[in-house]
Amino acid sequence: MGKVSIADFRKGRGPLVMITAYDYPTARLVDEAGVDGILVGDSAAMVVHGMPNTLGIGIEEMAMHTAAVARARPRALVVADMPFMTYETDPREALHNAARLVRAGAEAVKLEGGTEIADTVSRLVKAGIPVMGHIGLNPQRYLATGGFRMAGRTEEQARRLVEDAKAVEEAGAFAIVVEFVPAGVARTITESVNIPTICIGAGPHCDGQILVLHDVIGLSEKSPSFAKRYADAGRLIRSAVAQYVEEVKKGVFPAREHYRE
Ligand code: KIV
Repeated sequence: MGKVSIADFRKGRGPLVMITAYDYPTARLVDEAGVDGILVGDSAAMVVHGMPNTLGIGIEEMAMHTAAVARARPRALVVADMPFMTYETDPREALHNAARLVRAGAEAVKLEGGTEIADTVSRLVKAGIPVMGHIGLNPQRYLATGGFRMAGRTEEQARRLVEDAKAVEEAGAFAIVVEFVPAGVARTITESVNIPTICIGAGPHCDGQILVLHDVIGLSEKSPSFAKRYADAGRLIRSAVAQYVEEVKKGVFPAREHYRE
């Protein structure tokens, strides 16, 4: 199987599967597991850096995570999140910051928002930078929404989400993440656009799914209700390290095969 391209995403045949990764070893592992896309998400702020939301991570940290993921040379498409306040201020700044992520190895960037960022999406796309949209729950609006709340619950909100999806599509985005909206709303959005919708916490009527790696493998302190844990890597790590501690304390490690005279 060859490298996954933007064109492969645009075709959107069969459910597309994405997951986040923020470093070299996990990028290798998720790629070997067969995902179509790896998102270097600004969720790194929370699951890697222990911050309470995604607002605290900057472009330099995101570039460093992106470079680490890209060094794994994944088959999967590498998409990097543009962090809070790196694209909202002015389009030139957005171009400069998107280029920083592309130079670090991103094959596309993701921006949160709808109609209000359509011009910026268009500028990036015209400059040759593929853009993935992100509507519904936008974690970068955490302060305005007062937390991580489901979006699109009223008819008016749902209608606006469809408008947002269309605006982002028209601006040239090749796919859209739809986060934490009712399944029926995600279905309407999916039916209203010609680019693939990649859903998280928005049900099955989408062209693909995305989850945060640390929720999937059991390394998150707290996971959203819509995530599914497939493994308990936390227990595995704790148990391995506890064994190491015990063996050093008891003088079992290092054993003869672990050193030279
Ligand atoms: O940063 C992230 O992990 C994301 C996903 C939740 C889609 O944007």
